[in-house]
Amino acid sequence: MSARGLPLLLAAVLLAACAGSGAEREGTLYGRLGGAAGIEAIVDRFLYHLADNERSLPLFRNTDIERFREKFIEHLCELSDGPCAYSGDSMAATHRGMDITRAQFNSIVETLQQALADTDTPVGARNALLERLAALYREVAEQ
Ligand code: HEM
Repeated sequence: MSARGLPLLLAAVLLAACAGSGAEREGTLYGRLGGAAGIEAIVDRFLYHLADNERSLPLFRNTDIERFREKFIEHLCELSDGPCAYSGDSMAATHRGMDITRAQFNSIVETLQQALADTDTPVGARNALLERLAALYREVAEQ
């Protein structure tokens, strides 16, 4: 390669990298999570890891897991600005009376983080999703 070739090549690589992150920033969080297929995979991995969540699993003892899966997918889709309208019960009504503690809330966040890691969700999208979920803390816990 000529002496001029290398800087040109580097500039091209840097430009391509910028274009990539720009596109990601412009897209919705839904898109960055991988759309419908991405969110379904995240929820399926969440359910897989929930089995090992000793702190919170007992609360799901009487839960219809098929319904939970469907509603959780729908909720994450809407929360991430995807093309869905959540049709389940409100967060407050769903979790009222469960006496969910901060430790239990954190354990569910950890289970979700395991799912996000399994699905290779980009770190920026992971953090953006966790931020939106953290904002729901008062509707879900310590009620
Ligand atoms: C921001 C965090 C959370 C979100 C977005 C969320 C979302 C949801 C959704 C969408 C449903 C389905 C509602 C329906 O069937 O209409 C649900 C149900 C449920 N959630 Fe959460 N949840 C969160 C945190 C938690 C935590 C921390 C726990 C326990 C430690 C928990 C325990 C449950 C249980 C046990 C059900 C099933 C209720 C039933 O059997 O009817 N959730 N949640």
